[in-house]
Amino acid sequence: MAESHAAAPAVCLDSHDRLARLAAASAGVISFAGGLPDPSLFPKRELGAALEAVLSRQANAALQYGWPEGAEELREEVAQRLRARGAALDATRIVITSGAQQAILLALSAVPRKGTVAVDAESYPGALDAFRAARAELRGIEERADLYYVMPSVSNPRGQRMSEQERTGLLERVRKYRGYVIEDDAYDGTFFSGTSERPLVAQMPERVFQIGSFSKTLCPGLRLGWLVPPPRLARSVLRKKRNQDLQANGLAQALLVEYLRGDHFDALQQRARARYRRKAGKLMASIRRHLPEFAFQAPVGGFSIWLESQLEHDSEELLAAAIRRGAAFDPGSMFSARPRPKLAIRLCYSTVPAADIDEGVARIAQAIRDVTAK
Ligand SMILES: Cc1ncc(COP(=O)(O)O)c(C=O)c1O
Repeated sequence: MAESHAAAPAVCLDSHDRLARLAAASAGVISFAGGLPDPSLFPKRELGAALEAVLSRQANAALQYGWPEGAEELREEVAQRLRARGAALDATRIVITSGAQQAILLALSAVPRKGTVAVDAESYPGALDAFRAARAELRGIEERADLYYVMPSVSNPRGQRMSEQERTGLLERVRKYRGYVIEDDAYDGTFFSGTSERPLVAQMPERVFQIGSFSKTLCPGLRLGWLVPPPRLARSVLRKKRNQDLQANGLAQALLVEYLRGDHFDALQQRARARYRRKAGKLMASIRRHLPEFAFQAPVGGFSIWLESQLEHDSEELLAAAIRRGAAFDPGSMFSARPRPKLAIRLCYSTVPAADIDEGVARIAQAIRDVTAK
């Protein structure tokens, strides 16, 4: 699901979509919404140089149709990165996708049974939407299910890492119930300390679909991610990929390979992690100052903080009030697998200029006073 922000909608998907677009189109709104990377980190100059190099050296290959599994060189880059994290796999296992979102859909369509899908109490809306559209019954992550959807590296919206105990417990359930796992690692690389965990696919390659993305660490506009399906389901995944869109964008793949072969990406990731960690610290200080009625856990990475309160107000009603006060956020209802009686919200620090964070949180606090005074 696009958590992106385009102004002037012709058609709105739902009430949240309408509010998100309204906030994006309103001048002066300090927005903690969206889960977007900080655009000031986009390596525009390096990507420009990479594009020029691709078009001058290998334009025909980059502009021609390619294979559904994606460009060999990009698959090799992805495989190398997974090997560095402890997963013994080679490039032939990788399918390049149009972002992690398509990888989730491909995994879901290839998995043999999907009547029951286990998710965290709060999860990524694009995945929840896909599971609901497939008419799956959503269950808690501790329960028996056909399919388990987890974000072990850095979760969205909580910004937490799965503990060793949680990982072991999950794999035990998968083995016991002969289920499958979608390991969504879209936020891997944003972990503040910079160290990535061994992916689950390294422990159970026959039952784990591993998913990654360049959206959070580089830029979502390229629309490039990947899927490592269990070997037994690789053919089915590839057929579905071909049926859906033939292949991921070939020019973007060539551009990305060229960029990754320069030595800018590691430095960019380091700079990004330091920037996001600083902003997260600022946001936590402002939450403590202005929103004492909300509880939260400090994030270990990612772009957001998840806030829970005992207030019984609707998060979309609060969002409408916040937009009137000049601030925006993501309502908690978007992330909840089940109806949530208490008010919860997600605040993203990633795109807000550091200097605006405190004022933005103060505006949300004012909006809370507006709705609770009614
Ligand atoms: C957990 C998670 N998975 C997948 C995605 C989709 O990412 P992509 O841009 O790679 O499709 C997002 C985007 O917000 C996300 O938060």
